Amino acid sequence: MVKFMQVMASAPGKAILFGEHAVVYGKPAIAIAVDRKAYIQIQKRDDDKIYVNVRDLGISGYLDMFNDEIIEKNGQRTGILKYILESLKVLGIHHDVGMDIKVDIKIPIGAGLGSSAAVTVATIMAVSKFSQIGLTREQISKYAHEVELKVQNAASPIDTTISTYGGAIYLSKNSKGVIPLNIGENIPLVVGYTDTRGNTGKLVEEVRFRRDTYPEIIDPLLESIGTITDEAKIALLDEDEKRIGELMNINHGFLDALGVNTRELSEMVYLARSSGALGSKITGAGGGGSIIAYCPGKVSEVYSTLNSTENAFKVSISRKGVEEIV
Ligand code: MEV
Repeated sequence: MVKFMQVMASAPGKAILFGEHAVVYGKPAIAIAVDRKAYIQIQKRDDDKIYVNVRDLGISGYLDMFNDEIIEKNGQRTGILKYILESLKVLGIHHDVGMDIKVDIKIPIGAGLGSSAAVTVATIMAVSKFSQIGLTREQISKYAHEVELKVQNAASPIDTTISTYGGAIYLSKNSKGVIPLNIGENIPLVVGYTDTRGNTGKLVEEVRFRRDTYPEIIDPLLESIGTITDEAKIALLDEDEKRIGELMNINHGFLDALGVNTRELSEMVYLARSSGALGSKITGAGGGGSIIAYCPGKVSEVYSTLNSTENAFKVSISRKGVEEIV
């Protein structure tokens, strides 16, 4: 039974500070939610169709829940619609009630900043409210991870977890769950991103291939990334600036060795360092996408330099995760 004629939810994007890719192999990772969000609005329709419109990207389509497909698609890169289809499926939604789903993504897309996770998490919250399915944050996070696994084949829970809970987290399978990290709100970070989109699923697959080809080289490297993350957790809590920067630079070198670096990302990483960042690295899956720079006292300088060659923004942490907007 649908009581609400209209609901709206938002969820933040993310930046991984340490541990991407290694987290897929059970190593720890540290991520923050960034103050850039995906918004999902659902309105009841008079018929029983489910229509999705991603206005900013000129993408739309109808979700055919019976045949498990998206029909009458419009626009390019309609991949984002799959996350919405799977989000409805994971909640057991069919065509009982028609819905117009409007999607607004204020996160750079395919830039390693968690746009697909934010869309998924916000969709699960909005659809559950619309259909009056009571979900805890833990369930939202779990369902959203299932959706990412379905669409991308391989994914760790890092993106969906941080988008659900907000703030800063340390995720480790050894510590059984999510540990909130008390990192200062004003941590001096700048993100730089290219227009070249990385495909997370493909990059994760490429790392897997490299690991299968050179297990004795890549396994210790993934282990080392895990150690970097554990050291970084202490450095972040101690606000040990020099160490945070150095650990970022080492982590970047390992990501390069995993094969997810590109010339544009490399250029941004070194530009950030020469403009005063104490550390800089790829953030997210790589292969295009984004870098993150840690720049105590130099945020404006690093931002201006990166923004003059590619795109950049100064990071504010989103303390809130997914939320219903009333
Ligand atoms: C993507 O944001 C982070 C990766 O580690 C993939 C994942 O954890 O699912 C590259």
